[in-house]
This record gives sequence, C-alpha cells and structure tokens, in this order.
Amino acid sequence: MKQEMQVDLLKTMLKMIDDGTAPDAGRMVKNPTSSYVCKDLAAREWNTFFENHPQVLGLSGDLPESGSFMTSNDLGIPILATRDKAGKFHAFVNACRHRGAPVTEDERGKKNRFACPFHAWTYASDGKLLGIREPQMFGEFDKSCHGLIELPSAEKYGLLVVHPQVDGTLDVDSLLGELAPEIESWDLGSATYLGGSSIDMGLNWKIANDTFGENYHFHTLHKSKLNNLFHGDATAYDEYGRNHRLTVASRFVDAMRERPENEWNVTDAGVVVYYLFPNTQVVLFNRVVSLFRIYPNRNEVGRSLTRIANYSAQHIGLDVPGEQAQVLDSESLYTADTSKRMEFTLETQLELARSTIEEEDYYMGEKSQQAAESGKVEHFIFGRNEPALHHFHTNYRDALGLPPLEEYRAAG
Ligand code: FES
Ligand SMILES: [Fe+2]
Repeated sequence: MKQEMQVDLLKTMLKMIDDGTAPDAGRMVKNPTSSYVCKDLAAREWNTFFENHPQVLGLSGDLPESGSFMTSNDLGIPILATRDKAGKFHAFVNACRHRGAPVTEDERGKKNRFACPFHAWTYASDGKLLGIREPQMFGEFDKSCHGLIELPSAEKYGLLVVHPQVDGTLDVDSLLGELAPEIESWDLGSATYLGGSSIDMGLNWKIANDTFGENYHFHTLHKSKLNNLFHGDATAYDEYGRNHRLTVASRFVDAMRERPENEWNVTDAGVVVYYLFPNTQVVLFNRVVSLFRIYPNRNEVGRSLTRIANYSAQHIGLDVPGEQAQVLDSESLYTADTSKRMEFTLETQLELARSTIEEEDYYMGEKSQQAAESGKVEHFIFGRNEPALHHFHTNYRDALGLPPLEEYRAAG
C-alpha cells in the first residue's frame, strides 16, 4: 500500500478517535432475517457465488515449492491444487480417471507423483497420467488423454484462485478491480504458511461474514480481549466495487502522533481487512497475513464452515531503528502496554484468531441465527456505523436480482 494511503488511513482513524466518531453509511437499513434461513435463497447463493464463481483457495505460500499440494472439499467437488515441476500452479478435480478415487486425501504435503490408493494409477503434479498398473491385463489404453481433469486456475498477486467449473472463466484483475494494485503492493506471494484451523458452527455463512464487517461490537463483545488492543470505532472504510477494505486502529496508533509520517505504518498501528467478494477476508496485522474463507453448509442453511490460514509476512510492518517490539504471548496479550509496538508469538496469533472468532463472534452469530430461525424477528438493522454490512448485503442481493435493502426510519 502506498505510503500516502497508509498515512491517510491512519489520519482518518486518529481523527475518529479524537472526534469520537465512526464510519458512516449515511443511513440505516433493514435486512430481512429470511436471508439467513431461506433454503431457496441458499440454493441460489450456492449456485451463483460458489459453484459458478471464482474462489480464492489460498495464498502462494500454501504451495511453497515444486511438488507442494493441498486438497479442498469445500466447493462441492474434490479439488487437488498442486505446484508442478516447473513451479506452475494447477487445480484439478481430485478424482482418478479410472474410477474416481481421490488421488490423495492428505490436506497438504509434498509429492511429485500421486499414486491412487484404489488401484495405483499414478499421476504427475501437472496432472499427467504417468502409469496404470498391469496395463496388459487392464486393456489397451491411451494415457495421454486421461490426465486429471483440470479446472481454470490462476496465481496472481500471491492469491491462488480457482474456478469450480471446467469451462469457467477466471480473471483475477477483474475480480479485484481497483483493489488490484493495492493487493499487489503487499507482496502476499512472499508470505509463508504458518498453520491453520477450521470452525464449523451453527450460523449462516452470511452471519459469519457479517462478524468481519463491523467493529461496533469491540467495546462490548470483545471487552475483555481485543478491546484492550484496538479502538473498535476508529475504522476507516472504503469500497472497491464488490470488495471493500476496513482498517481498524490498534491502541498503538497513538504512538504515530509522535513520529514523522514516513515512519507511519498501517499494519503496525492497525489491522487491514480486505473483503473479497463473495466469501474471503484477507487480514493484515503485525507481520502476519490471515486468510478466512467462509463456506455455506449445503445441507443446513444455518451452518457454515470457516477455514482460517495464517502466514508469516516479515515485510508487512516497519522496523523503526532503535525500537523493539514487545512480543506478546497468550498470557501477556490482554494486559499489553499498547504504547509499544506489538508482535505476537505464532501460538498467540493462532489462538487469538480462533478463540476470538469461535468463542465470541461466532458464538453470538449462532444466537443471531437462532433469532432468525425463530421466525419472530422479521429483520435485523444495520446501523450507519456498519457500512460494510450494507455493502455486502447490497451486493449479493443485487447479484441475485433481489430488491435492495429497505431504509430503516426511526418512525417505523
Ligand atoms: S480408481 Fe484410481 S486406480 Fe482405480
Ligand atoms: Fe469480532
């Protein structure tokens, strides 16, 4: 991100702190709770946004070297993503061409050759069928046209993107739109994979997504944890087509006031959250990139799966000469001296993401889901200070041809 943009965002957040303000959508809207429970809508969403829409699978660091691979079953089809001998990223249907067994069930690893566990046909990391066992018994066979079925895929700006349809089209630049140069500037491709986790809970994928879209809840829901580290209301918000960016100030932002602007760094003094339509959040903070991908449960509208992956990105952050960051572990996390720059141990980072989301955000999201399912609460209200929620819901409604969200007026 350009230095001027970092300074602009930090100034916006500092002004919000000084003025006691928050981002402002200019109006309140009503979101019908049926959008979290309707099976027909869920089927349309699945079809439009998941089955037939490009999907971020991970970052380049998920496939660090030739022979690296990972698998996914989150999009309704088994996917095998590889980096071949030449370093090229591929996404295949993870189904052997003999009788459809997955050629590996490992979540990730390194293999230059995949031997199908059923009858041991072997495939290369570029998908070619290398050999079939006992060909003299199996029958005459043209190996050259029975490689793994390849899906459209692209690796750009450090993102691994796949289209779940063999004949789908995929253009990372048009997915990112005006955000492309900014995403490129972070050099996400050099971030290295640290570890990940998954959360499978009873809340619709859009309620899960909503928890990333407002920081109005920091002072309350996160009062004993994140609120010690962040100024929740001080959130800069910008839209880029169907994507948006939220930047929330950490309490360390106050230290920026004492520094020359060329030493201002937004990922030292705040969290940058990119929402990429339809289901991905890329979060940058203190030398760590976290990727959140949220998937609907196809059998249960009120359930979703969140995949969390964390990556080390030492280049995201600023080394100020003579300044030592304090390294926080899970003990010191919530009593940190926020006048000093913070870095987290890996364990803390993973725990922070998992426990905050699972025990606080999604815990409450499950309650909202239950309220929606009760049928007694007709709509939820998105405040003026929750513009990202307006944006997300407006966008997917628009894409599905649903009427726009109605304005909420105090008179009723
Ligand atoms: S299904 Fe893979 S070798 Fe038979
Ligand atoms: Fe939260």
